[in-house]
This record gives sequence, C-alpha cells and structure tokens, in this order.
Amino acid sequence: MIEKLTIRRPDDFHAHLRDGNLLKQVAGFTARQFARAIVMPNLVPPITTVAHAEAYRSRIISALSGSADFKPLMTAYLTEESDPAEIERGFKEGVFTACKLYPAGATTNSAHGVRDFERIFHVLSTMERMGMPLLVHGEVTDPEVDIFDREAVFIDRVLSKIVAAFPALKVVFEHITTRDGVGFVESSGLNVAATITPHHLEFNRNAMFAGGFRPHFYCLPVAKRESHRLALRRAATSGSSKFFLGTDSAPHRVGDKESACGCAGIFNAPFALESYAKTFEEENALHHLEAFASVNGATFYGLTLNEGTLNLRRSPTEVPRSYGDGNDILIPFHAGETLAWRRESDGSEA
Ligand code: DOR
Ligand code: ZN
Repeated sequence: MIEKLTIRRPDDFHAHLRDGNLLKQVAGFTARQFARAIVMPNLVPPITTVAHAEAYRSRIISALSGSADFKPLMTAYLTEESDPAEIERGFKEGVFTACKLYPAGATTNSAHGVRDFERIFHVLSTMERMGMPLLVHGEVTDPEVDIFDREAVFIDRVLSKIVAAFPALKVVFEHITTRDGVGFVESSGLNVAATITPHHLEFNRNAMFAGGFRPHFYCLPVAKRESHRLALRRAATSGSSKFFLGTDSAPHRVGDKESACGCAGIFNAPFALESYAKTFEEENALHHLEAFASVNGATFYGLTLNEGTLNLRRSPTEVPRSYGDGNDILIPFHAGETLAWRRESDGSEA
C-alpha cells in the first residue's frame, strides 16, 4: 500500500476566488495547495476588460499577503459585446490567460453571458489565431431541456459547431459531468480538453436528495446519474492528457446555500487534493494523479510546469464542519468527514 506520494506542485485550472471579504476568506485555501489557478471572471460586474482583470488580480494578491508564491491566471468573461482588440491586448500583455464562455443564464452571475453564439465568432477567430484557450460552461439554458440533459444538448447544439468552425481553437470543456462530455473530448482533436471536479468524481445526483434536500451537494452543472460519474472517473484516472484538474470550488455563504432559492456551488478548495487522491486511489490510479494535477493542464495551456513538489501522506485528516462565523459561515465539501490522505507541504521538499 502506498503511504506517501510526492507530486510536482499542482495547478487548479478552474477556481472561483470571489471578491471582497469572501476573497480574503477563501483565497488562501487555493494558494496553499496550488502554484497557479485559473480564476473565473463571474463577478458582479463581470471581468470583461484588461483593466478589470488587472485590478482583480491585485486584489487577489493583496488578499494573500502572506503567500506570494501563487500566481492567479486571469480570464475574460465573454459577452456579445466583447471587443477582439481588447482580448488580444490582454492576452499579449499577459493579463488574460483565457476567455470564459457562459451561456446567458446558465449559472451564477451569467446574466451578461452569450445568447447568440455566432455573435462572438469574430472573438473566437482572434483567439484561435493567438492560441488563447476558450473555457466553456457547457450547458444550454433552454427551459424546455431537462436539466440533466443540458450538457449533452449543448454539445449537439453549440460546442460541436464551435469546434467545427474553429478547428485550431483550444477549447477546455469545463467541469464535465456526463459520458457524452467524455466522449466528445476523446473523439475531438488534441485542441479539445476538459477539467473534472472532485465532487463530480465522488457523488451522483442521488446525493442531493439523500433523506431530504441537501443544498451543499448542489452545483452547476448538476451531478448526473451513476453511469456518468463512472465515465468521469475512468477519464480522469486514465492517464489521458486531455483531462485535468479544475476544482470549480465555488463558495457561497451558508445562508445563500440553505435558502428557498439556494446558490449553486461546492466549496471544495480546503481539501481538494485530498479529495482527488481518494478517487485516484479507489481507481488504483494514484500513479496518474500527478499528470492530472500537475502536468496535463499546464501542457495544454502552454505553460511551464511548476518547480517544487508536494507530499500526500496516508494519514487521517478531519475536515472541519464549517469555516468562519456570523454571516460568513462556509460549509466545505466533506464537512465533518475524515479523509485518508493528508497534504504535508506545499514547499519543494521531496
Ligand atoms: O456551481 C456552480 N457555481 N457552477 C458554476 O458554474 C458557477 C459557480 C459559482 O460561481 O457559484
Ligand atoms: Zn465554475
């Protein structure tokens, strides 16, 4: 039995670091595990300009005053008004690493997202030419489409058309939740990849309804049925370079989750690596964890691999029931449970 695993320092290719007090409360959890994170732009108002992204990056860095060894990688929120020249300038100046496509109304703060996808085709063309990745929230918003089918229908109606129209565009299908998503990525060229969250690897849709409605298992895209979860586990742990780590850690205050109209999102940042290690061990694939966490994403994005290592040791780790107090309580993924792996360091000791 493996007792200790040393991996190259990992990156999180999908994180919501939020803003204001919530940013100060959560950013450290990501920064102490990951060398870099792709920071989602769905603030209010969204991050659409180079100036917005630079200001947000400064707020993230100041929220992390103690841990300078973390690089936030900023993204631009695409709208039907996005200006290709602004996106190009942001990418060339090293401010924007990627653009995020939210279908309007698909999820938290997506109201400014895109309704008519052809209206951003000129931006996609610029991105394709520059090698700038497009990060896609892959769900249709058509209310006639069953919520559990929205990812599969998005592939048919939108994603397959974008990939066909821009054959060299780098596309990351974010937080895939279905075997259809896995199949689409596997059958596309090397320019199409996907992130997979720890929570979609660990539970299926039953978790939301186990003995009552459980809002802390609600996220978007929603977890699907068991056969889809099994397809995700096979993909993530297969060693394929097309799949990589993106937590989609999405904290909301407890009152916003436990509400008549509760927010979507799972706060998994505190024990993200320990959670992924659980899945990889269960699938007898711990030897593929480093590629998934520390190599595949960086290679796809064209980033250098991180220096330094991080240790995971087999040692029981208790997850707190909550973080914060008063109005600022956050409930983490695995709250109150004990995980088998413990992250030992974020330094460069082997
Ligand atoms: O569950 C989610 N929460 N899915 C998303 O796409 C957005 C995120 C958030 O920002 O809360
Ligand atoms: Zn997200």
